[in-house]
Amino acid sequence: LTAATDPSVSAPTSPRPEYRKVGVIGAGAVGTSVCFSALMSGVADEVALYDIDEAKVRAEVLDLAHGTAFTAAHTMTGGADPAVLSGSSVVVITAGAKQKPGQTRLDLAEANVAILRSLVPTVQEHAPDALLVLVTNPVDVLTLVAQRISGLPAGRVIGSGTLLDTARLRWLLASRVGVHPRSVHAAVLGEHGDTEFPAWSTASVGPVPLLRWPSAAAPQFTRPDLDAIADSVTNAAYEVIQGKGATNHAIGVATNRLLESVFKDERAVLPVSTVLDGEHGLTDVALSLPSVVGRAGVLQVLETDLDAGEVRQLQASARALQEAAGSLGF
Ligand code: LAC
Repeated sequence: LTAATDPSVSAPTSPRPEYRKVGVIGAGAVGTSVCFSALMSGVADEVALYDIDEAKVRAEVLDLAHGTAFTAAHTMTGGADPAVLSGSSVVVITAGAKQKPGQTRLDLAEANVAILRSLVPTVQEHAPDALLVLVTNPVDVLTLVAQRISGLPAGRVIGSGTLLDTARLRWLLASRVGVHPRSVHAAVLGEHGDTEFPAWSTASVGPVPLLRWPSAAAPQFTRPDLDAIADSVTNAAYEVIQGKGATNHAIGVATNRLLESVFKDERAVLPVSTVLDGEHGLTDVALSLPSVVGRAGVLQVLETDLDAGEVRQLQASARALQEAAGSLGF
């Protein structure tokens, strides 16, 4: 039955679905991986890539567009004019210097904050209503700086934070216990960097607490095991960078997971970085805590029951980040 054939049937009055556009800044390995992930997943109707390097961004847009007969989303645009970002609901910032072997993420702060100082006003000129998603490192410092420069509410400036580290942890644990990574409920919190830490006290495999897996009588993981796993996660990027010069695939799909929760208003709980407003007694710092992510951005930051050691680790993370941001005037 339709309105055309039966006058008693009124035409649907549901609102027109929003045209979903995501802008990505930076045509490097990370930015193009974010674009590829978004095209493959169909998270947005249009993916627009912006970079100041005209030849590079044109080549990357073409190379991505050439495959759109086979991807879920089919509109790939972009160029060296920031106007390509206009109409974006979300703008992902991946531009900036990347870690070289032996460099920490915090070593990149001064150079990448300088880039952000001009980039944020440009984004706000062309996509004034967009949520900002920071990926460039040090992502927590840049999330704080972008929130301060933009003046946007904290929930509308989101750093990818420890979402990637959490995926690494879940992969490692899943391979040790023999379940799907999505059945490992564990999160890395704090800085996306050397002071990050797994919240072991709240980790579980399905409904079974990790510290009592597979049974309380004979737990599989000793404290040295857990420390070794934590080190592997914290140092994962260094290992990949040493071998291939950068990380890009995992951060691409992790960022896409964040975009999915935004565009679909999933309200998924994800460990992402936002400027805190007193959670665990912390302010004037952006770091990752479990957060409810929806169409409007981070709707709520959840205060996890951390044990005494984890509270100390969170405070150490905050201090390291506040020191880095403070040295740059934020
Ligand atoms: C990494 C980068 C994204 O951890 O910081 O791979």
